[in-house]
Amino acid sequence: MTLDRATAFAPASVANVAIGFDILGFAVDALGDRITVTRSKTPGVRIVAQSGIAGDLPTDPERNTAGRALLALNVAAKPAFGFDMQIEKGIPLGSGLGGSAASAVGAVVAANALLAKPFTKLELLKFAMQGEVVASGSMHVDNIAPCLFGGLTLTVGIDDPRIKRIPVPKGICAVIAHPHMFLSTKQARAILKRDVSMADFVWQTANLAGFISGCYTDDLDLIRECLNDVVIEPQRRQLIPGFGAVHAAAIAAGALGCSISGAGPTMFAWSLAAHAEAVRATMVAEFARSGIETDHWVVPVESDGARIVAG
Ligand code: HSE
Repeated sequence: MTLDRATAFAPASVANVAIGFDILGFAVDALGDRITVTRSKTPGVRIVAQSGIAGDLPTDPERNTAGRALLALNVAAKPAFGFDMQIEKGIPLGSGLGGSAASAVGAVVAANALLAKPFTKLELLKFAMQGEVVASGSMHVDNIAPCLFGGLTLTVGIDDPRIKRIPVPKGICAVIAHPHMFLSTKQARAILKRDVSMADFVWQTANLAGFISGCYTDDLDLIRECLNDVVIEPQRRQLIPGFGAVHAAAIAAGALGCSISGAGPTMFAWSLAAHAEAVRATMVAEFARSGIETDHWVVPVESDGARIVAG
């Protein structure tokens, strides 16, 4: 059944998950963007309203993350009608929680519900990727894939991406602490060195392989050992006040691992449910000790991904 109007909820996401730079991510249902798309007699794409914690986002679709994604869908679908879009931002920009990806994903998921011949999720992913370029200046999928597919996802390839949902052992929670500060993804990418030493390459590869293997085999010790970014985190941690103390406190409170969410400044930890509240309390306390307030959540790693919530 096609609709004249649809609202999609698109969840936040934690990209990289420490060891999978640009290829791993998990969705976080605790917050998200809501995008409403309405069928219009006038062909083309328009952004008719923006609300929530958006700030001043461009209303020119070409320059807007959700707008660009919807333009890409519009070119491919060539519908006999147009799209009017309302964007309600629930994810702070520059937080490292996949706010731009969520807007792009929400736009194409909502618009897809208006089409007689809907696209597949993989096709929607490619449209959403066009939107991510507007925000970060580069083509990466590690927020878009979990936002669209849900759970913990691995993405292989860019031109023709393959998405694998990775099982997460029962009882694991994610603790998320979002410090009230803005960090530009472009800036956090620009500071990264272009080269990696052979020793770090081997270590990081082992950690990624061990982490994925640990997820498939419920091996919590292996996950604890491997949830450790030796390449990107050492370069970015200086951008986050209190990083070292927050990280150390989370591990001391029982976290399996703790790192930067996406490009930061949000930090995340993985923990068994029994330790999750202690991990949350200590991360929040350490940020506060650096004079930084946080929003914080404890969530299961099992979101269903973006979905239609109202027709
Ligand atoms: N993988 C990306 C990064 C996520 O860390 O730069 C941010 O969009």
